[in-house]
Amino acid sequence: MLVMIVEMALTAVSYGLHIYFTILLFCLGVLMFIFYRLLRFPRPTPYTVKCFLRRGAPARNSPIIIAHRGGGLEAPENTLAAFKLAKENGALGVEFDLDFTKDGVPVIIHDSTVDRTTDGHGQVYDFTYEEIRRLNASAKHPLGEKFPDERIPHLEEVVDLCVNLGLQMYIDVKAATQPGRVRRADPNILTALTWRKMVIANKDYYGPSRFKEWWKQLLAPLLDRVWELHLHSWVYDFLGVFCISFSHGSFLKRLLKKNGKTRERV
Ligand SMILES: *[C@@H]1O[C@H](CO)[C@@H](O)[C@H](O)[C@H]1NC(C)=O
Repeated sequence: MLVMIVEMALTAVSYGLHIYFTILLFCLGVLMFIFYRLLRFPRPTPYTVKCFLRRGAPARNSPIIIAHRGGGLEAPENTLAAFKLAKENGALGVEFDLDFTKDGVPVIIHDSTVDRTTDGHGQVYDFTYEEIRRLNASAKHPLGEKFPDERIPHLEEVVDLCVNLGLQMYIDVKAATQPGRVRRADPNILTALTWRKMVIANKDYYGPSRFKEWWKQLLAPLLDRVWELHLHSWVYDFLGVFCISFSHGSFLKRLLKKNGKTRERV
């Protein structure tokens, strides 16, 4: 097929035959369509997505309460104690962070190192599961003494607990694992992408430009705009995400004003 198209293109160029151009364009269009249909991840139905995002909400417009890292202020973040407390405090779900140890075991910890939250030092990927389990996950928490036996949990422990407690799970996958890999492993897992405005142009949300040269400062916001348009229309099919959450200051303000009406794209 490709050889045919190249041949036709060469013929068209040498003879200037419009009919070849038309056929060529048509074939390219068909090819791109096939490529798109074959390679994109299957989309969950809008109904599934809506059920997931709004499941268990007390009322249509009420905010959904998700305990970030299990609610890291009341209990040591990303621990079983935190998830249990989040449930007691009325959260509908919990968000937690997934990383992997040296021996490939899925564990729940936010940072790439264990230093901030535990009594250990070093990168998560330098610990075996057995070693990381010896660390005290409440060591650095202000209320640590109330939680003397918290360890860095295994993914399965957390999933079991959340299923038993009826908590929704929002899993933040670290270690540069793309959502596409998760969908490929199990198409029933819904994956989402947090998208930040001006991610190409600026260092942080409203921060200074990433670039020094004036022309790059002009070009980068344009690229951001192009990326944004394409992200919404077809790129997210290839990333395997079902929802794009907008991570943007003014959006959050609007979100609070509208009392929980989110703009997740379905
Ligand atoms: C873990 O750290 C907390 C806070 O420093 C402490 O109270 C607790 O005794 C420690 N637990 C263990 C098993 O060392």
